[in-house]
Amino acid sequence: MIFGRVKPLDAILATAEKKSLHRSLGAVQLTLFGIGCIIGTGIFVLTAAGAQKAGPGLMLAFVIAGLVCVVAALCYAEIAAMVPVAGSAYTYTYSVMGEFLAWTVGWALVLEYAIAASAVSVGWSGYFTGTILNETFGIALPAWLSAGPLALGGAPGGFINLPAMIIALLITWLLMVGTTESARVNAVLVTIKVAALTVFIALTLPRIDGGNFSPFLPAGTFGGFGTGVGAVGAAATIFFAYVGFDAVSTAAEETKNPQRNVPIGLIGSLGFCTIFYVLVAAGAIGTIGGQPIMGPNGIPFPAGSEELARQCAMPQYAEALVCSNEALAHVLRTIGFGPIGDAVGYAAILALPSVILILLFGQTRIFFVMSRDGLLPEKLSTVHPKWRTPYVVTAITGGVVAVAAAFFPVGQLADIANAGTLYAFFMVAIAVMLLRRRDPARERRFRVPLLWLVGPLTIGGTLFLFLNLPTEAMLVLPIWSVVGFLIYFGYSYRNSHLGRGLIEVHEPEIHDVDPDIPGLDTRDPLDPPRRPPGV
Ligand code: ALA
Repeated sequence: MIFGRVKPLDAILATAEKKSLHRSLGAVQLTLFGIGCIIGTGIFVLTAAGAQKAGPGLMLAFVIAGLVCVVAALCYAEIAAMVPVAGSAYTYTYSVMGEFLAWTVGWALVLEYAIAASAVSVGWSGYFTGTILNETFGIALPAWLSAGPLALGGAPGGFINLPAMIIALLITWLLMVGTTESARVNAVLVTIKVAALTVFIALTLPRIDGGNFSPFLPAGTFGGFGTGVGAVGAAATIFFAYVGFDAVSTAAEETKNPQRNVPIGLIGSLGFCTIFYVLVAAGAIGTIGGQPIMGPNGIPFPAGSEELARQCAMPQYAEALVCSNEALAHVLRTIGFGPIGDAVGYAAILALPSVILILLFGQTRIFFVMSRDGLLPEKLSTVHPKWRTPYVVTAITGGVVAVAAAFFPVGQLADIANAGTLYAFFMVAIAVMLLRRRDPARERRFRVPLLWLVGPLTIGGTLFLFLNLPTEAMLVLPIWSVVGFLIYFGYSYRNSHLGRGLIEVHEPEIHDVDPDIPGLDTRDPLDPPRRPPGV
């Protein structure tokens, strides 16, 4: 019975205890790590797609998506402080709802991490072509090399997004050779990102023209399920701007006093970003306006569509926020701060690769844990003798990320990543509530206040946002799940360590490299460098 394959929580915790890490992270470091994962393409780029869906209602969209994330973060905080082990939502689900559902979560997390990494690569490409090539060197990369076939704002005729593909491959290579990012580098990059947003807010807020906020909701609050427009449609897309806070939960095992610091890290980073996001949206729309370009039926053209790209190529939309590939730099240039706009562009170019690095690392880690459980071939986790990284899984993941970045528009990639992430959040909320019922006596280092309100709000909120994604993005999740079911029943079910009676979490034999036997290094690549980059 597939639903009966539950990995006992005590076995998971015992393993974690055995491999217990030095608890060194404090609340500030954890919050910085969260902000490092969160601020990226969502705010720097998708602000344009969000405005195309909601107009000035984008500000409301940031609040709606932020609220769903806050309730989800509370659920993450309880379970991460209680089960502080690698694997995040996948591991929690394994211990509460069993292997099959855990598989579906792990499989959906591929969308969260890998496809999000593609989206951030495309976002980076917009700034690279705009700020470095165009503004700095006066080079106009041909349309067919700077955008996928349907990229947002790109002139029709895009074929491949070369810069996006190259940055994704470069980061993959860095991860393969074992590059990680120190907490100090993360802190510097967070400072750069936050400074860029602060400067943006400081320069735009005093220049706001109230008239730009009217009409506030040109596409309505609720554009209809599957349409992806209106304030909630924009919220479903802009949710991407918050993706990544859950990565804080993966560092719980290394956190001092996790019952206090993990919730601070999760909620602190999220709250901080929400305030910045709403102010940035207000500054962008209040200064240059952010009305959507409407189709003949009075509904905004879909963000990332060919029709919108055609409209954007017309001279009257040359300055439209909704047409920009580098929204924040574009706003500053338009209101007369050209060099500062370029500086914001450079900040994005510098900082976004670290978001790609963290997301790709997260992906390889999830695959690693799944293959350690026998659900994916252990060959995937083969450790390179010299680099000591799981290079096979990193290369495969990075290759897929690069291809997706080369051919798909940022908005569509973000929507697909959101679908997977929303599913993971949904399952985490269910897991927290089930555990409270089934195992009320277990020590909880952090308890969600009013769980019976917060849990259902998370479930309802994630479901609601999911249903407000564009239909194509919604459909990717069931189609992706069918592929997952085929792999599960074709391979994982039979090879699962738990299914084969290995209740203890399987550990590969861990020993140091024997210099006489080249290539024989079965060390767990997460051990010792288990920490995600940036912490
Ligand atoms: N939240 C991250 C970003 O916006 C993934 O890039």
